[in-house]
Amino acid sequence: MKDIEQLQSEAIAAVAAADTLDALDEVRVRATGKKSELAAIQATMRELTPDERKALGQRLNAFREAFQVAFDERRGQLASAALRARLETERLDLTVPPRRVPPGRPHLLTQVEHEMLDVFVGMGYQVAEGPEAESGTYNFDLLNIEKHHPARQEMDTIYVDGFDDVVLRTHTSPVQARVMTTQQPPIAVVCPGRTYRADAVDATHSPVFSQVEGLVVAEGITMADLRGTLLAFSRRMFGADREIRLRPSFFPFTEPSAEVDVSFEGAAGNHGWLEILGAGMVDPNVLSACGIDPERYSGFAFGIGIERVAMLRHQVRDIRELFDADARFLARF
Ligand code: PHE
Repeated sequence: MKDIEQLQSEAIAAVAAADTLDALDEVRVRATGKKSELAAIQATMRELTPDERKALGQRLNAFREAFQVAFDERRGQLASAALRARLETERLDLTVPPRRVPPGRPHLLTQVEHEMLDVFVGMGYQVAEGPEAESGTYNFDLLNIEKHHPARQEMDTIYVDGFDDVVLRTHTSPVQARVMTTQQPPIAVVCPGRTYRADAVDATHSPVFSQVEGLVVAEGITMADLRGTLLAFSRRMFGADREIRLRPSFFPFTEPSAEVDVSFEGAAGNHGWLEILGAGMVDPNVLSACGIDPERYSGFAFGIGIERVAMLRHQVRDIRELFDADARFLARF
């Protein structure tokens, strides 16, 4: 009994001294496992008298119970200490400022193109697109620009090598020819897209640029419809107080033709007119070449440079800024 007293206080002291869960488990094996002194004492029970056996049995049970109480308490302490240590090392500092990832946005030209299309879609136009590598038939022939017409040279056409009669379209007007050869009036379409001309690069010229072409063909369409449409467009894009002015001009595919200017008031009190687009009444030759009866239908068309609108709206002085992809410039819009 004395030995057991001694073993118990040693075991309980060892439990208190264990400083990790693994160490605590070793203490348990050493104090109460199969090879422990406790087990050895228990093995002597068979040699005892029933009374002695009963007394020893009770004492050993008391040992085991006391050990278990101390063991559970220590295990609880060590487990919560281990958890606290883990939380400490895995701690997240929620006050660290987040790294900012700037959101992407459409390029200025895309934004302006969408605004322009929105204006026309709001008036009931459909959007139509066509290929950038275009046949001479659509880019020129159906638009009343004959083989040796000076316009073919004036437009500084880029021809596609190795193909007969394929060009990079010099304007988006071939899309109106594509629409008219496949649809009967009433037609109201806008055709956005890239266009190409062999121009030298400077502050106002780029060999790659983009246009929105508009086409309306129906019965009884007049120049007044064209003017009203372009006035509404200009006021939506540039301001409700704008006026427009049509100056006589020439395009092979429209008759009469006009250059259209929009009025501006400068910050310095100066005012004047800025050219924004070309337009006109669709030439009857174009209507009949595309399979539309010019006796019954008439129409108007216009072509607007998207770069020009973007530059006027946002005071961009050099067209190259629109193609440089300088993030500092683009972030302004
Ligand atoms: N296609 C002409 C150009 O690129 C613009 C235009 C379109 C003019 C439609 C009149 C009618 O210059």
